[in-house]
Amino acid sequence: MVFDIISAVPDLLKSPFEHSIMKRAIDNNLIEINIIALRDYGIGKHQQIDDYQYGGGAGLVLMPVPLHNCIEELKSKNDYDEVIFVTPDGESYNQSTANRLSLLKRVMIILGHYKGIDDRIRQKHVTMELSIGDYVLSGGELPAAVLVDSIARLIPGVLNDATSALTDSHQDKLLAPPVFTRPANFEGIKVPEILLSGDDAKIDDWRYQQSLDKTQRIRPDLLEDV
Ligand code: ADE
Repeated sequence: MVFDIISAVPDLLKSPFEHSIMKRAIDNNLIEINIIALRDYGIGKHQQIDDYQYGGGAGLVLMPVPLHNCIEELKSKNDYDEVIFVTPDGESYNQSTANRLSLLKRVMIILGHYKGIDDRIRQKHVTMELSIGDYVLSGGELPAAVLVDSIARLIPGVLNDATSALTDSHQDKLLAPPVFTRPANFEGIKVPEILLSGDDAKIDDWRYQQSLDKTQRIRPDLLEDV
């Protein structure tokens, strides 16, 4: 799957994809991430990309022309399944959206900065607006990293153990059960006996029950539509 990401601050996006699972996925050609610097499409000598908003009010807005030129150039070269804008006033992003997006071939992700982007870009180009939570970040770079990571790990081959994405929290609307590794006794706290029993069926039952209890305790809202 290919992610073409348009950013006003591309350096903010480097590190999340240079390590661990994301790096391996890129090295193995399972995903491709292209970060496009919006500044390259800026206007005039200073390559301007933002300006004051009409009607007054604090905060600069990303101008429509540089974004439009950048988007049009990308569209002339590639076909996009979705053009995503990450924004705190978008639809809530969750695991089921991640699952759906992981089946796509190529997406463009547009990132806002400062006060946002000129609304005409949303009207003209954007097919999907996603928020990663009810709080406001300084720009779309961190949300984009969240999106790409959560989608990429669902692509077959990205995780070593094919089942491990399926056992994540939220994958079946339940929070994940607790996990343990060596030593079996840590500061007097012992690993639950059942996990040492070798009885796979019993272990599965125990994990399911733990997931259910935890979800009831911490996120009962998740159980409402199960
Ligand atoms: N940009 C700033 N805050 C955001 C959020 N919560 N979700 C998505 N994009 C954002």
